[in-house]
Amino acid sequence: MLGRVLPVVSGYFFALAADLLALVLTHFLSPWLVPSPFPFFVAAIALSAWFYGVGAGLFSTLLATLVTNYFFLPPLYVLTLGKEDVSRLGLFLLVAGIAVSLMRAQRLAAEAQSRLGAIVASSDDAIVGLSLDGLVTSWNAGAAHMYGYSGDEVIGHPISRIILSDFQFQMKEILSSIRLGETTRQFETIHRDKAEKPIDVSITISPIRNKEGHISGASMIARDITGRKQAEKKLQGYTEQLQLLSRRLVDVQENERRFIASELHDEIGQTLTGLKLIMEVAPHLPPDAMGEKLAQAQQLVTDLFEQVSRLTLDLRPPMLDDLGLLPTLLWHFKRYTDVTGIKVLFQHAGIENKRFPTEIETATYRIIQEALTNVARHASADQVMVWVVDDSQGLNIQIMDNGEGFDFSSTLLSGKASGLVGIRERAELLGGSLTVQSDPGQGTRLEVDFPPEKLMVAPLEG
Ligand SMILES: Nc1ncnc2c1ncn2[C@@H]1O[C@H](COP(=O)(O)OP(=O)(O)O)[C@@H](O)[C@H]1O
Ligand SMILES: [Mg+2]
Repeated sequence: MLGRVLPVVSGYFFALAADLLALVLTHFLSPWLVPSPFPFFVAAIALSAWFYGVGAGLFSTLLATLVTNYFFLPPLYVLTLGKEDVSRLGLFLLVAGIAVSLMRAQRLAAEAQSRLGAIVASSDDAIVGLSLDGLVTSWNAGAAHMYGYSGDEVIGHPISRIILSDFQFQMKEILSSIRLGETTRQFETIHRDKAEKPIDVSITISPIRNKEGHISGASMIARDITGRKQAEKKLQGYTEQLQLLSRRLVDVQENERRFIASELHDEIGQTLTGLKLIMEVAPHLPPDAMGEKLAQAQQLVTDLFEQVSRLTLDLRPPMLDDLGLLPTLLWHFKRYTDVTGIKVLFQHAGIENKRFPTEIETATYRIIQEALTNVARHASADQVMVWVVDDSQGLNIQIMDNGEGFDFSSTLLSGKASGLVGIRERAELLGGSLTVQSDPGQGTRLEVDFPPEKLMVAPLEG
């Protein structure tokens, strides 16, 4: 409250004091003030209005009118009101008005200037003032932060010696074209900071003109785009990975077709050929022999059914869609042990009577299938432990064998690990990760984790 009242009150005091001073000065100097006794009052009004605004200006005007009327205008020492008083009042008001508007304009300009200064000071961008011969004239906090030099270290020094890069050559050329009146230039380049660490920057250089409109220097705004550049590089990496994946997808599809084709040709094709032969000879045989051939044909048809059903199961067990992960795994382990003689010790938690998104169920099944095939083909193990647990950490899958182990990193680098790479890709495509721990003679532990947010089943539509 006091803080707001005080400037107002002090304005009126100032006006009073200024008019009193004007009265005293006019009194003593009046012989020299012919023809007008008013210049000191005009000054008092102008100063009051300039420093304290409209209120003090008007107050000073009123006082000056009364005092000059009383002390200096005949009839002296009486207050009268004449035509000249009105015109004098008008003159005083004009002076006060001019002083107030000048003061306001100046204050606005100063405010704009300090606002601009605050923007420059608080900007994250480096904003650097340059003379036409390339000396640093100003250096904001953003520049100090970005390049690691304080203002004291650089102001007055050539910019080309501060920012180490091929920028040194560019800068000379840019400044000479700015001298010729060229407007803003924008480009991206690499600067180095005090520790010589490279920074990706986007640079804008514009001419600075003085009041007369002549180019007197240049401003350089540098924005750190290291983050953007890194993101671009990452994106590029993803794009390349995606291209690689889609190429692999085509390969995998082709291999699958080759597998189905050979399965159809080698197994089903052979059985069908046998069946055809029997049917061709049977009509020409005596009835007893024909009965025997018919029995053979029946056996072949039974074989065919079995082959088709095995092929179907190999391609994609229908129970994975119908019954879910756990029953399919149990079925797969039984068949695996029957065929390979390798014992599967299966432990599970949190997956009973539960459905996961189809892609998670498929990936989990395929990963375990491939890992178990590897155990049978490469590990010389006699038992394998499989572990599938879903809890708040996500879905954890582990396959551990007691076989001979292998060197995982050199196998990956050898480029002959399409099965393991496939496991990793399946895991990563669904936001998961693969770790393999294996040492020659120590068995192998393969682990895949899917994060919990990938395990939510999307609600059915409609
Ligand atoms: N459980 C395992 N025990 C021992 N060696 C393994 C095991 N799994 C994978 N390997 C080794 O890693 C190699 C790459 O496996 P993989 O990518 O599945 O390709 P492939 O099975 O077609 O050879 C195998 O050739 C084998 O040498
Ligand atoms: Mg394999």
